[in-house]
Amino acid sequence: MQFSNKTIWITGATSGIGKAVALEISKFNARLILSGRNKLALMEVADTCKKNGSSVLTVPFDLGDEQSVAAAVSEVADQKIDCLYHFGGISQRSFVQDTPLSVDRRIFEVNFFGTVALTKAVLPLMIKNGGGHMAVTSSIVGKFGFPYRSAYSASKHALHGFFESLRAENKKNNIRVSILIPGRIKTNISMHALNNQGQPHGKMDEGQDKGMTSEQAAKIICRKLVREKKEILVGGVDLILVYIRRYIPCLYYFLSSKIKPL
Ligand SMILES: NC(=O)c1ccc[n+]([C@@H]2O[C@H](COP(=O)([O-])OP(=O)(O)OC[C@H]3O[C@@H](n4cnc5c(N)ncnc54)[C@H](OP(=O)(O)O)[C@@H]3O)[C@@H](O)[C@H]2O)c1
Repeated sequence: MQFSNKTIWITGATSGIGKAVALEISKFNARLILSGRNKLALMEVADTCKKNGSSVLTVPFDLGDEQSVAAAVSEVADQKIDCLYHFGGISQRSFVQDTPLSVDRRIFEVNFFGTVALTKAVLPLMIKNGGGHMAVTSSIVGKFGFPYRSAYSASKHALHGFFESLRAENKKNNIRVSILIPGRIKTNISMHALNNQGQPHGKMDEGQDKGMTSEQAAKIICRKLVREKKEILVGGVDLILVYIRRYIPCLYYFLSSKIKPL
């Protein structure tokens, strides 16, 4: 699946990995639909994408608000959407025992239910048009638990269950699904992560700061999206934890109890 002349809806396009992927794809003469809540940031990304040669429609909406998701879909329902790439999401920095259920729910509303609502609204449109490619952004902590990330990790695990089921149900409808599994990528995710008050953590974590750049990540992601890989791991040495969890679980149990939370 080449990007050229395809209509590609990208959420989380105002910042970090989603923005870098939008900018990378815009070099291939695509028709982009870009989303996020921050309208100013969205316009800036759109301007650069247009300079790179792609057409752009900006559709700002809040993944945590079902009505906002529905309104966004109605804005683009007349388009033939070839690809839906989900990057919108929010992380967490708080211990289980300090985190009120309202914060757990907020993280699920954005990362899981918002993503699912958008997917369910776009799926029939894609099926009607003969199929399409969906990509959802999980995380390495969608493959194992991690301190200070309980609801975030759980929301990403949930995405695996949902999207693997969607893929299995819809092979006959020519719906292809890629699950992106980033390790640490240097973005503002830790700044926007929710603390135990449901407020932004507001700090660039040391580990985050040492991560792969979003531009490098976007190049790797785009190469693998073109090939419609079912799982796309992207990151640095931290990816080794995925293999340790799978093949040497005892070592993972030991290491995960020693990991510095930030
Ligand atoms: N960076 C990493 O190390 C890492 C690792 C694993 C997975 N990920 C995943 O990668 C994806 C992108 O994260 P990032 O690192 O690029 O972080 P980021 O720079 O904070 O970007 C997050 C994006 O999600 C959007 N977003 C957040 N809440 C939203 C809401 N309620 N409604 C609509 N859009 C919302 C933001 O846009 P607005 O603020 O404009 O709404 C922004 O465009 C996320 O799903 C994240 O979980 C990141």
